[in-house]
Amino acid sequence: MFEVISNDILAPNLHRMVIRAPRIAPVRRPGQFVIVRVGRGDERIPLTIGDADPAVGTITLFIQAIGASTRKIVAIPAGGSILDVAGPLGKPTHLANWKRVACIGGGVGTAVLFPLVKALAATESQITTIIGGRSSQYVILADELAALSETLLITTEDGSLGRKGFVTAELSELIADPLRTPDAVFAIGPVPMMRAIAELTRPHGIETIVSLNPIMIDGTGMCGGCRVVVDGESKFACVDGPEFDGHLVDFAGLSDRLTTYRDQEAALCHAANE
Ligand code: FES
Repeated sequence: MFEVISNDILAPNLHRMVIRAPRIAPVRRPGQFVIVRVGRGDERIPLTIGDADPAVGTITLFIQAIGASTRKIVAIPAGGSILDVAGPLGKPTHLANWKRVACIGGGVGTAVLFPLVKALAATESQITTIIGGRSSQYVILADELAALSETLLITTEDGSLGRKGFVTAELSELIADPLRTPDAVFAIGPVPMMRAIAELTRPHGIETIVSLNPIMIDGTGMCGGCRVVVDGESKFACVDGPEFDGHLVDFAGLSDRLTTYRDQEAALCHAANE
């Protein structure tokens, strides 16, 4: 069993949970994830490892409560426990000697971006971080990311914090300024956001890395649930990713697969609420 050390609400339906996982904490690398199962017979949920403290043997997970299983996880209070936390899984983020990097997070994607920015902050790269959300209450980790970045830019759809609009507006301005044009862009968030960013950087030949979060079951490359098409080839996000070249991802196919179980999920949530 894995003890829950703390469970805080960061934004509506978004929790930050610290879990005792002494075997995972010292070996996990940025970009990797775990698969969590609350109890016997429960769904297996992939969650990015947002941070780790090897000295005390804990990992930090950011959990968006959007379905029956994730709601069950976030309902566990400090002092409670989780049956399985398997990992670390997935390939770690590949870091190169970029001069300037733009790191872009949308909504809960900002939480997935956090360990990546932390890793980049230990390199020579200049980091511009752009984060966005529907409104100010959905913008998370701004102080933490500001401390790790040269520049932090914020956008909200309703203009309640930062620039009104989308993260792509800030990225367009960066690209247009020769003194700020990034050599590489990391984009993590909703599929339409990652797709829009990839299309924005494509004509400029800017390396663009996206982190995908398709449906996962075993997390070991055996079930095929996390299949995505990259450069015309089937890849498994759990073992070949979760990070891929954004210019080569079939985002339309990914969107279709993500909505495959929407009706069943709605029925489960309905049953859980009755
Ligand atoms: Fe089963 Fe990736 S989760 S192959």
